[in-house]
Amino acid sequence: MDYKRILVTAALPYANGPIHLGHLAGAYLPADLFCRYQRQKGEDVVFVCGSDEMGVAIMVRARKEGVSPQDIVDQYHPQIKEAFERFGMSFDLYSRTTTQTHAETSQEFFRTLAEKDVFTLKTESQLFDPKAGIFLADRFVIGTCPTCGNENAYGDQCEKCGSTLSPMELVNPRSTLSDAIPELRESTHWFLPLGDFQGRLEDWIATHPEWKPNVLGQVKSWLQDGLRERAITRDVPWGVPVPEDVAASKGIDASGKVIYVWFDAPIGYISATKEWAQSVGRPEAWKDYWQDAETRLVHFIGKDNIVFHCLMFPAMLMAHGGYVLPENVPANEFLNIEGDKLSTSRNWAVWLHEYLEDFDPDLLRYALATMLPETKDADFNWNEFQARVNSELADVLGNFVNRTLTFAARFADGKLPPLIKPSPIDINALNAIATFPERIGSAYDRYKNREAVFETMALARLGNKYFNDSEPWHSRKSDPQQCANTIHVSLQICASLAVLMDPVLPHSAAELRNMLKMGDIRSGTPSGSKDGIGWDDAAQPLLQEGHVLGESNILFSKIEDDVIEVQKAKLGSKESSTPTEMPYPPVKDLITYDDFAKLDFRMGTVLTAEAIPKSKKLVRLEIDLGFEKRQILAGAAEHFEPADLVGQRVAIVANLAPRKMMGMESEGMVLMAESRDGQLAIMQSSGEDGAIIK
Ligand code: MF3
Ligand code: ZN
Repeated sequence: MDYKRILVTAALPYANGPIHLGHLAGAYLPADLFCRYQRQKGEDVVFVCGSDEMGVAIMVRARKEGVSPQDIVDQYHPQIKEAFERFGMSFDLYSRTTTQTHAETSQEFFRTLAEKDVFTLKTESQLFDPKAGIFLADRFVIGTCPTCGNENAYGDQCEKCGSTLSPMELVNPRSTLSDAIPELRESTHWFLPLGDFQGRLEDWIATHPEWKPNVLGQVKSWLQDGLRERAITRDVPWGVPVPEDVAASKGIDASGKVIYVWFDAPIGYISATKEWAQSVGRPEAWKDYWQDAETRLVHFIGKDNIVFHCLMFPAMLMAHGGYVLPENVPANEFLNIEGDKLSTSRNWAVWLHEYLEDFDPDLLRYALATMLPETKDADFNWNEFQARVNSELADVLGNFVNRTLTFAARFADGKLPPLIKPSPIDINALNAIATFPERIGSAYDRYKNREAVFETMALARLGNKYFNDSEPWHSRKSDPQQCANTIHVSLQICASLAVLMDPVLPHSAAELRNMLKMGDIRSGTPSGSKDGIGWDDAAQPLLQEGHVLGESNILFSKIEDDVIEVQKAKLGSKESSTPTEMPYPPVKDLITYDDFAKLDFRMGTVLTAEAIPKSKKLVRLEIDLGFEKRQILAGAAEHFEPADLVGQRVAIVANLAPRKMMGMESEGMVLMAESRDGQLAIMQSSGEDGAIIK
């Protein structure tokens, strides 16, 4: 089938933590490679994604950090968005599911299905926290595991013995919100009867024998088991509200009820497309991408999302009517790290924002692309990363480009020399270039990214070998025209590479095009040029005789062993897990200089320190300020032994109005640094007692 346009989605990541390599390998890098290639090929591509901000995952995180769900998503959404940008994700729009458009779109979708009588309603008993006044999601109930006796099993799973549980099966269940014993209360919910769609889903899946075996395998096993209904509403305080009118029409009170996150999240793809259409000033354009049969819709996801994208969302789209179904769902398997299962709680993960502090995005794009878990789980390890960078990017691609440009600068006056009487190996090399756009491109188009990237590097290898075999350092003296021919052909290979490596190495490809002073290429980015050199043009020599080249730079430098050791040491260590798991408290409102100048900070020395009977937190300090002594009650008893405080140099607020605590006067405050995990540290200085801190 010939398609008119391509709509690409990448799974909406939960905004409950930063992006790691598992995410990138599962969905994001493959999606970006595909989009950049298709745009260069001249296709009409829209690529949307956004943060998944609803659901219990967000609530669990919020509880763990003692903040609201909104705080969690406000913290992680911008962080995720920024890391994606720096990695080079070429989204046309990156949205989030807390937007107004999304609430309206998912409610409207829900309403349409309700009006078509697609849903069934069921009243069931559910655990309710009488103290907190809300129904309890599975994760919020703990109790004793009926299988192994673990007293802290969750309502959905016992982490000790691994059994899957329902909250009702727990012995002595209790609420994690209030410790109250949950009660059973009746609640009515909307269900999507997936069984009603079984036949249509089977027929549709049968039209896609070309899907990846790992995807078809999972889908067929679900279908074989028979699809069951799924509750698509929840009684939780965070989510897209169930539309009141829909509930009222069934005599149900919608308050406290939200749409299940796996119902609203995929609709997020539609909401994001609407927002994109708005942003380009064609508010109706989203319909072409979702409702015109000539759209090629592709969902990039990890394997844990297969059932939702291959069965549940398609059933929703079928039920609604008028929507296209995905042409493919090229789900990847999982990425292990250094031979071990990726685990965020053990910090056995490589975090994108941390990676980007140390390395260029292109190195990871390339290395990861060679290791993608396309057909089975794959392993990322730092030694292989280093080897890919050093022996492929630096030694092959970088070296070839560098030799070519250095030779051109020194022996061809920085210009493309004419090709005169080419030798058979020159002609062979030129002919070989012609086959690469199709070879690399067809691999991208068939979602075979490892193959595509391998073929891209094959062109660089070909160039490197050609350069070696031609020995221009000899012909330079013996046969200058032969040397010029070598430079000519090598430069043409560089130019084709500068186009064909763009999907996987977008930043370096742009740099190379700059060195070659190439004309505009049809860009793989949304905002880039739609004209200029296209993908297939790279089959032909791209540079004209006499073309003046730019300055050349080293494209890739090698990575030393010690740098890699530092990365390995980070794995599994607590230090790097703290910053990613805890939010930084926001900076307080601005104050004026005059406000600041009112504060009088002084240095002092702790003379005595003693615990205060009956107080867990306070410790009584006597502090020498040089010109006088002060008694200060500090809330540090949980962090320091009194004896360890004696002799410490401390900074204090000297002009704080005295306060009475536990019957004693506190004449000031000791400044301490509080880490995000609540640890206190003393701020030390060498200033004399009484010194003014300003
Ligand atoms: N947030 C989900 C996850 O990380 C993926 C949602 S994909 C969508 O597993 F289709 F629902 F958006
Ligand atoms: Zn158990």
